[in-house]
Amino acid sequence: MATTETGPRFARLHGRFERRAIRFAFAILVVLSAGGLVEIAPLFALENTVEKVQGMRPYTPLELAGRGVYIREGCYVCHSQQIRPFRDEVERYGPYSLAAESMYDHPFQWGSKRTGPDLARVGNKYSDDWHVRHLMDPRDVVPASIMPSYAFLASRPLPVDRIERLLRAHRTVGVPYSEEHLANARADLLAQADPEADAAGLAQRYPKSQQRNFDGRPGLTEMDALVAYLQMLGTLAEFDWRRPEPEWVR
Ligand code: HEC
Repeated sequence: MATTETGPRFARLHGRFERRAIRFAFAILVVLSAGGLVEIAPLFALENTVEKVQGMRPYTPLELAGRGVYIREGCYVCHSQQIRPFRDEVERYGPYSLAAESMYDHPFQWGSKRTGPDLARVGNKYSDDWHVRHLMDPRDVVPASIMPSYAFLASRPLPVDRIERLLRAHRTVGVPYSEEHLANARADLLAQADPEADAAGLAQRYPKSQQRNFDGRPGLTEMDALVAYLQMLGTLAEFDWRRPEPEWVR
């Protein structure tokens, strides 16, 4: 039977490799990493990896502080913040989440554990008062709720002294806070929670920021910050929510 020139030579080479397990494993690793790199590396360099969405901005200092409370209290253990592109999700929670909506999240809060509902678009769904009552005692507004009470947040003063450093840390990992954002961090935080304060600077630095006494009580507490954060979730991105549904959603 005729064999080609390369056939037996290749078989010999292959045979040599197969008999040396460690060298073979190493060769597999090299080949696989090359393939992986070719797929993944360009994503870090391409401008269009994350589709641009109008309206996204870094968190206000108060929202960022509230987000810190959210993470510290482990809300993510029961709540995700990512609406999947499935019909049941879109009908229940609203338009599915886009990558750009979490581009300033460090760490992101997508999650997959849903003991409670997804919170990606919970902003402006309920009143501040509802949120405060719910966080004080979830069973007060949802009788069958199994969510724990977070009443203590209403009596914990919000520490504000390190807010500028918190923004700076986020800038280090890529959030585009400017020197102006940093310089006004503390003032912006206080202004957002005080309906009497002049918030022109805040509104200019953080479009669509909401300004009020979020927990409706005197004093600035962790409850204010957390409610400010919750009321912002999903309200920033501006895209056509009534865009025609793709064929497969119907
Ligand atoms: C042990 C699981 C658990 C933890 C931890 C938890 N939740 Fe919940 N959460 C639930 C459940 C269950 C519901 C649904 C019943 C209800 O509304 O209380 C819920 C509902 C909610 C809702 C209403 C959502 C909607 O669209 O109706 C909000 C807002 C919320 N949680 C915020 C939080 C925040 C903020 C924290 C952290 C401080 C937190 N949850 C921690 C289980 C949890």
